[in-house]
Amino acid sequence: MAVRTSYIRSVGRYLPERRLTNSDLEKMVDTNDEWILSRTGIRERRILEPGLGNSYMAVRAARDCLERAGVEGGEVDAIIVGTVTPDMLFPATACLVQKGIGARHAWGFDLSAGCSGFLFSLTTGAQMVESGRYRKVLVIGSDVMSSIVDYTDRNTCVLFGDAAAAVLLEECPEEGYGILDFIQRVDGSGEDSLYMKAGGSRRPASMETVQNREHFVYQEGKQVFKNAVTEMAAVSAGILENNGLTGKDVSLFIPHQANLRIIAACANRMGIDENKVVINIEKYANTTAATIPLCLYDAHVEQGRVKHGDYLVMAAFGAGFTWGSALVRWFDPEA
Ligand code: UT7
Repeated sequence: MAVRTSYIRSVGRYLPERRLTNSDLEKMVDTNDEWILSRTGIRERRILEPGLGNSYMAVRAARDCLERAGVEGGEVDAIIVGTVTPDMLFPATACLVQKGIGARHAWGFDLSAGCSGFLFSLTTGAQMVESGRYRKVLVIGSDVMSSIVDYTDRNTCVLFGDAAAAVLLEECPEEGYGILDFIQRVDGSGEDSLYMKAGGSRRPASMETVQNREHFVYQEGKQVFKNAVTEMAAVSAGILENNGLTGKDVSLFIPHQANLRIIAACANRMGIDENKVVINIEKYANTTAATIPLCLYDAHVEQGRVKHGDYLVMAAFGAGFTWGSALVRWFDPEA
């Protein structure tokens, strides 16, 4: 019996216009361009106008994605939004996207997995298509990190940016193509290495939590770095081993964009050349759930680097801890 897979039919994105450069940050906290660039690879990031919210970006990325495929909102069966910065704790941002794109037959939900949010959403959406029950699943990675970043804390404020990007999944017409495999893990022992201390049910908002600046991203950078290097590199190499492939077979490696040094360690473990690694951290910084589809957009839509039959590996690591990798063999219906 043929194995049903799903494929990425189109990619879209939304980038806020406002740029926050390293030199802008030099005026806000005790930092400098040299430190930021050498430690992370970031030059600038995009910042959404306050008050617009996640769905503003997610809807625009979704519309861009659907337009490129010539698909109407009414044809979408399900919407998954990977995010840690929803418009509100409830309702889910997926509901607001449903309204914004006129997806009148869809259901949907938000998926919270930190920087692995897009990867986990992608593989969840892929399995929904593979089940045979859904034909068109929209998967969005969208985060307004500026809404939870403390711009008085130099340890974190230089690292993050805002963006949204979306992919449309459909059943792959040809066997052996599409989203072929994935490895995904969580480890809750990382819960206090990267988190927001207050605002949830354990520590609801109060005068005290606001005064203590507990509604912002808190990160033990070194701890996260060590785990990311080890685990993300292991699953990046592992997905190749599991599928009898080597770095030479891979056309593009699309990693989460948190730190150039983490990305280099993964590429090294996979044995792939630098020129096959998609990197845009210098332009957009760490946009949490949006990094991987933003990179895919750059490589596919802007640079035309993705060809029918290419093997792509995606990998992420984030709060939780959460991490994983996915193997995609690109299907181009025009080829
Ligand atoms: O996407 C989700 C997952 N997140 C990640 O994967 C991030 C993983 N972590 C990292 O990428 C790195 O740990 C960071 C980029 C966050 C930090 O780099 P690091 O090499 O681990 O630096 P550090 O935190 O150990 O700080 C080194 C020094 C410290 O000064 P002292 O104690 O050595 O005097 C910091 O206070 O750099 C200082 N520092 C800064 N200096 C200038 C920290 N932030 C800044 C800054 N500008 N913005």
